[in-house]
Amino acid sequence: MSAFDAVDVICNKRDGGRLSDAEIDWLIGGYGAGAIPDEQVSALLMAIVWRGMERAELARWTQAIVESGERLDLSRLTRPTVDKHSTGGVGDKVSLILAPLVASLGAAVPQLSGRGLGHTGGTLDKLEAISGWRAALGPDELVSQLETVGCAICAAGAGLAPADRKLYALRDVTGTVESIPLIAGSIMSKKIAEGTSALVLDVKVGSGAFMADRERAARLARTMVELGSENGVRTTALLSAMDVPLGRTAGNALEVREALEVLHGGGPADLVEVTVALATEMLALCGLAGDPAAALADGSAAATFVRMIEAQGGDLGAPLPVARHVEVLRADRSGVLGRLDARGVGVAAWRLGAGRARKEDPVSAAAGVVCRVKPGEEVAAGDVVLELHSDEPERFERAVAALDGAVRIDDAPPPASPLVLERIA
Ligand code: URA
Repeated sequence: MSAFDAVDVICNKRDGGRLSDAEIDWLIGGYGAGAIPDEQVSALLMAIVWRGMERAELARWTQAIVESGERLDLSRLTRPTVDKHSTGGVGDKVSLILAPLVASLGAAVPQLSGRGLGHTGGTLDKLEAISGWRAALGPDELVSQLETVGCAICAAGAGLAPADRKLYALRDVTGTVESIPLIAGSIMSKKIAEGTSALVLDVKVGSGAFMADRERAARLARTMVELGSENGVRTTALLSAMDVPLGRTAGNALEVREALEVLHGGGPADLVEVTVALATEMLALCGLAGDPAAALADGSAAATFVRMIEAQGGDLGAPLPVARHVEVLRADRSGVLGRLDARGVGVAAWRLGAGRARKEDPVSAAAGVVCRVKPGEEVAAGDVVLELHSDEPERFERAVAALDGAVRIDDAPPPASPLVLERIA
């Protein structure tokens, strides 16, 4: 006989109660084992969306998800471990640069990543634009690469927090993604299971982010920092602006090319600024000295990137895919770019083929958007503002529609606004 009645557990949360530790363990364990059906877990998730969770309740929920699978043991490494997680944004190719950058300064960076869903891209999809590169690494391979190269970007294995995989798929189709405790528990369970000792969260705020509202983003950041600290993972968070795409590209191969520019000491200033800010946090958390800007300028980060890609079968000598068709959007007047909406650009890149609507969909490596002009830069009537890249010309119409209202040209530059908005520790 079952220890609890699922309907009682649902009603308890529906009426604003706290789930007991035993109820949480029973529920997460039972759902993972297939003993509690989707419809009952869906109802509970919706009750959590409305009622929230107390701090201790969320801590137990997260722990139960961690315990649904294995925990990686990174304790054999001689380097200090530190990871970064971004809540996702448009043109956010920071991980590609940051992992080798921080590794080149002495850390081990186990960057277990996901694929893109919706208008924000996924790190694995980006790296798969490199010929031969493989996302799957076994636990022994991962540990060995972390020791020798210092970093790995790879897919989280199926054994890591499997209950989250099931819960997330259910949340995705039941309108229950947007809950601070559920998001925090989902993200942090995977990071705790990954075995990193320290973690920096890049919580994006703005139109292109998961959370457009700064106050909610800060609450999410604080909740995740608390969960990390309570589980022995030294955790801090930066809130960073995501109203405008980061860098000048959104799309898989396009973003790899731009990441390589930064790794070779160039690239767009906003992308460099966010990357260096996160690297500085990561180094401080694991007690390492080192100058991230210098490691970009002197080629040491780039050399580590090459070693990481080659260790995972990638051939950087092979050309990156290029789209067969390019359309351009031109400025209809002269002035200064006042607005370039991240969500519009992200959705356009997605509709061009860079992203997927369902987990099973393939992505195009070549598709995406290049922003030739960014806010604050001058533009003359007829200049190209955006390039749209795709292998399938029939995709252009819907991509252009996504950009309706996304670009505005003004007479005067927009007020300067900071990229890194807040640090939460
Ligand atoms: N990413 C996750 O891994 N989980 C969430 O709930 C939301 C974003």
